Amino acid sequence: MTARILDGTKIRDAIFAELKDEVAILSSAGIRPGLAAVLVGENPASAMYVKSKIAACQQLGMGSGLITPASSASTAELLAIVEDLNRDNDTDGILIQVPLPSQVDTKRVLEAVDPAKDVDGFHPVNLGRLVSGRPGLVACTPAGCLEILRRNEIPIEGANAVVLGRSDIVGKPMALLLMHANATVTICHSKTRDLPDVVRGADIVVAAMGKAGFVQADWIRAGAAVIDVGTNRVTDAREAERLFSNFPARLEKFRVKGNVLVGDVHPDAANVAGAITPVPGGVGPMTITMLMSNTVRAARMRRAKTIPRTISAGGPSSLGKR
Ligand code: GUN
Repeated sequence: MTARILDGTKIRDAIFAELKDEVAILSSAGIRPGLAAVLVGENPASAMYVKSKIAACQQLGMGSGLITPASSASTAELLAIVEDLNRDNDTDGILIQVPLPSQVDTKRVLEAVDPAKDVDGFHPVNLGRLVSGRPGLVACTPAGCLEILRRNEIPIEGANAVVLGRSDIVGKPMALLLMHANATVTICHSKTRDLPDVVRGADIVVAAMGKAGFVQADWIRAGAAVIDVGTNRVTDAREAERLFSNFPARLEKFRVKGNVLVGDVHPDAANVAGAITPVPGGVGPMTITMLMSNTVRAARMRRAKTIPRTISAGGPSSLGKR
């Protein structure tokens, strides 16, 4: 059996089309959703991510701003920038790209962001709202994983869901979202006993522990839905062979390029699962998508309580309900 591929790019395109309409309606009412990104220093990976986020804003007709403090910036300087953005009425979402330089107190800076503009969902107030099932802004990657499940109509209610990884920005919020959707949730981590057996009991597996091809195909129950959050770049030839021996085209690509991307799930799991997200092209495109969705939502919650929404709250999407 070959798993159904859960295509994140396709879902991104559908959500972008919905958001574009919503941005147009809000803008015509004088409320153009806007995202401000703060990129500190010259980390090339961070610069690339932020560039894609700004490009997405432009694609949707949203406002965007980029603030680029030097890598020597102090905590106080960043707090002053955040305060200015908190006060700016045209800024609906504030994105502080992490990691921040080592001299900066990252927690203090992230916690200074107004929870109403916390489109990354990192603020403890928003985490607390998620815990207690109240409306708030939810971290983008887990929100994107839920959206993939919902838009593919994968049953969550009553399902056994296993989340691998317990980070504050993926594992914990993911487990809470699944629990609120009435799954029976198990959170696994590096000290979990009999991990393969725990995973074998799962109807839904979310792998988010950052270890290349760690979840083995024979841990996956036949027909399970597998959401692979990992994005690991493999540069070692023997590791590439361990992972892609059944995928000659990917191995060939590795030989040409010298590296290959793999998730936290061994690619052979696609022969056992009922549905699986590819890497790349699964969860990856959803993170920016949910950042855009959160920014539009933040604009609506803060400034536009009476304007009708275009995204239905009752369809397969969970966008309107969060
Ligand atoms: N660094 C890597 N991913 C992210 C993200 O989703 N948000 C922010 N703010 N920084 C990041």
